[in-house]
Amino acid sequence: MNDVSMLGQMPPVSPEAITIDFGRNFPPPSPLVQSALTDTFAELGCANIADAIRFPRFMGTVGDREAGATWLSQRLGQKPNVERVVLANGSQSILAMLMARFVKPGGVLLAEELTYPAIKPLSALFGIELRPVSMDVEGIDPASLDKACIELGANARALYCMPTLHNPTSATMSDARRADVAAVARRYDLWVFEDDIYGILPEQAPPPLSLHAPERSWYILGLSKSLAAQLRVAYVVGPNSDISQDVFWPGVRTTNWMVAPLVAEVASHWLANGIGSEILRSVRAETLRRRALAASILPRRQITSSEFNYHLWIDLPEAWPLNAFVKAARESGVAVGPGESFAVNNQQGDRKFRIGLGVPPDQDQLVRGLKAIASLIDAPADRELNQ
Ligand SMILES: Cc1ncc(COP(=O)(O)O)c(C=O)c1O
Repeated sequence: MNDVSMLGQMPPVSPEAITIDFGRNFPPPSPLVQSALTDTFAELGCANIADAIRFPRFMGTVGDREAGATWLSQRLGQKPNVERVVLANGSQSILAMLMARFVKPGGVLLAEELTYPAIKPLSALFGIELRPVSMDVEGIDPASLDKACIELGANARALYCMPTLHNPTSATMSDARRADVAAVARRYDLWVFEDDIYGILPEQAPPPLSLHAPERSWYILGLSKSLAAQLRVAYVVGPNSDISQDVFWPGVRTTNWMVAPLVAEVASHWLANGIGSEILRSVRAETLRRRALAASILPRRQITSSEFNYHLWIDLPEAWPLNAFVKAARESGVAVGPGESFAVNNQQGDRKFRIGLGVPPDQDQLVRGLKAIASLIDAPADRELNQ
């Protein structure tokens, strides 16, 4: 499930009426993706790709994991041992494997009180209880995590978190905060599932939390939010090679089976030949352009300071109930992500909504959508409430 799950919570409006989609969260389109695909298929075609990818690709080939390890070194500071690295069909697939293995039915998964919406149905699927941990401007509050672990005792099994450019708030933990959170995880013997899918967007970001507790951390870096939504491959680095292979070997227990060979082939090619880095640079540049447009149209205080982030977490204007605002936006042809869909058993999202600046295909749509949101922010809510 993608953030599209949020649409289920919105009042029905015919899909044709939605012309501008701020509800989902994809990287802005890079003009390099189409040409890279054309070149790659031409090159791979010459090399008889059909035969090369005919075989199962459990956990990724050594070449896949080599290319992935080099990509991961941008965040981890050095190349992890390739035997610790596994490729999968997206971060979601990795999370399903980790939850089934380490949290298990009846166990508790701790998560930021606002979290990636798919975590909610995913935990429900596995009979796992999701427990919110309070956040501040830096993300997880270590004291709140500590308190929850005391209350839950041995049922607290793992922490799912997004320490860099958290979805939806954009909160980023300082290095000291990462060390504090890791210390709590160690104290209560929690596994850590670190989702760094947006963490590679900033040119500079603190090193992953996993480095503070490598013996218990699963570091996950997907490509679909930094390079292209079309390239849905994710890498996970386990605490050591034995456990990585034990958890992801397909004969054991699996929702993942193996990474889709064609997509893995393309991803490895792009990471190895440098086009991946070029696409990332173009995504960053387009993000800056889109954020500048947003800053010129929306009230300034609504633009979070993390400059390479393409999602904005916006305050609902005081007079508006969330549902009425989301409905009014949809009736103006604009989808936004209601804050409540990110909240774990609490009201943290009741006065917020998220807009993803990456989905509109061009500047014209982006500007029209932003103007529609800006005029709703200025409009009196009574108009909607009285209808
Ligand atoms: C925080 C976060 N993690 C993971 C994903 C999905 O990642 P993937 O495409 O690698 O499964 C999303 C998508 O919305 C997300 O926001």
